[in-house]
Amino acid sequence: MNRTTRLATPTSVSTEMAIIGGVPLKGEITVQGAKNSVSKCMVAAMLTAEPCTLKNVPNIDDVHVVREMIRALGGTVEEVRPGVICITATSIKEIAPTTLKSIAGRSRIPILFAGPMLARFGHTMVPELGGCNIGPRPVDFHLSALEQLGATIEHVPKGFIMRTSRLVGNRIHLPYPSVGATEQILLAATLAEGITVISNAAVEPEIIDLIALLQKMGAIISVDTDRTVTIIGVQALHGYDHTVMPDRLEAASWACAAIATDGRITVRNARQLDMTTFLNKYQQIGGAFEIHDDGITFSRGRELTSIAVETDVHPGFMTDWQQPFVVALTQAHGASVVHETVYENRFGFTDALKRMGADIQLYRECLGGKQCRFGQKSHLHSAIIMGPTSLIGARIAIPDLRAGFSYIVAALTARGETTIAHMEIIGRGYERFSEKLRALGATIVRG
Ligand code: EPU
Repeated sequence: MNRTTRLATPTSVSTEMAIIGGVPLKGEITVQGAKNSVSKCMVAAMLTAEPCTLKNVPNIDDVHVVREMIRALGGTVEEVRPGVICITATSIKEIAPTTLKSIAGRSRIPILFAGPMLARFGHTMVPELGGCNIGPRPVDFHLSALEQLGATIEHVPKGFIMRTSRLVGNRIHLPYPSVGATEQILLAATLAEGITVISNAAVEPEIIDLIALLQKMGAIISVDTDRTVTIIGVQALHGYDHTVMPDRLEAASWACAAIATDGRITVRNARQLDMTTFLNKYQQIGGAFEIHDDGITFSRGRELTSIAVETDVHPGFMTDWQQPFVVALTQAHGASVVHETVYENRFGFTDALKRMGADIQLYRECLGGKQCRFGQKSHLHSAIIMGPTSLIGARIAIPDLRAGFSYIVAALTARGETTIAHMEIIGRGYERFSEKLRALGATIVRG
């Protein structure tokens, strides 16, 4: 096979899919390498001149964006066999602003190049960020952290120019345990002079996986139980050989599809340890699971019942599990309460569910057990879902990646035909998506 064939940017992703629902999904699929881990592993390869080998790499848009960034910087990314890439960043060149602009706007990952570029070359330009349509998603924590490590930052049209004579370790307190900002500091501080201590750091499994990869490269990083991460800077890092962890977000979405359609799905590679909080809530609403050595089987254990749940940083209930879980809750008896505390604007997707017959009301108040930082603001960040409701097919359009999978779950649950527009958004984060749906017995009439 040609070395770059499989990892080619998908051009055949249909923008519309039509599904006839009401068929329980049954069978087995394999979950891909984690979208929110693979891109960071690729960026880490920029910290060394030695070749890095990454396995279990999914063919998704974030991977293509990072590959474009690395190539634009003068590095190489080669597919050695399906799902395995080799990255080399021996010599790095200045990225042309026009190239940067063409990459900008499609992903949030490019800003993570800042740390490695500053550490190795003392200057860089990174684009302003794209990503999903789920609120403003600022980068102030990233910029402040890099400044505290000794970078000067100039905001220019469409990006940031950053310079440093040498990154130097510091004590950095994050106002919120941001995943991206924690990764930013990890990637910047491993080659900085001295010690960096992050307090209020994010400790998601994807971050622990990045720390494990950096340790393989020679970094010295410890994680304390109180969200404190300590990085002892080293002079140089070497190449890695690493396997991307399985995607626990994808696994949870298939789990929700299983109970919403009253089916039974075995998700190969799903790992219990990454999903314990999800599995607790799943079990509480009536979901059942069997843990195997190489995956988890999901089904209904009984009639589904309502629950109160709030999203949070790890080890809380992930915000990315929220959307498919809300669809499953439309099939549960009683009133469920979902309090979103990570993003201020992550319930916009419920409008389409309401048009399909779901009974969902949104509130500005914190309806969960605790007050969150959105409670005093006017964000609709709590939801009450009354169930069970019969969903009916409709024409709907995907607003963002995770909402997209949840719309598919809704379409599979609904009576009649649902036409889902903007399926290309699904292609950004899930590989072989319609192939997996068909393998589980979904009735796809178009797309
Ligand atoms: N935030 C700031 N300032 C910053 C950074 C973050 O105010 O400089 C706020 C955000 O606006 C948000 C909160 O902090 O309200 C958490 O954001 P975080 O930085 O943790 O998110 P992220 O790193 O941008 C990653 C995932 C998201 C996932 C979140 C939370 C990737 C590429 N994205 O985003 O995944 O929801 O962590 O776990 O890793 C997705 O996969 O669809 C997705 C949105």
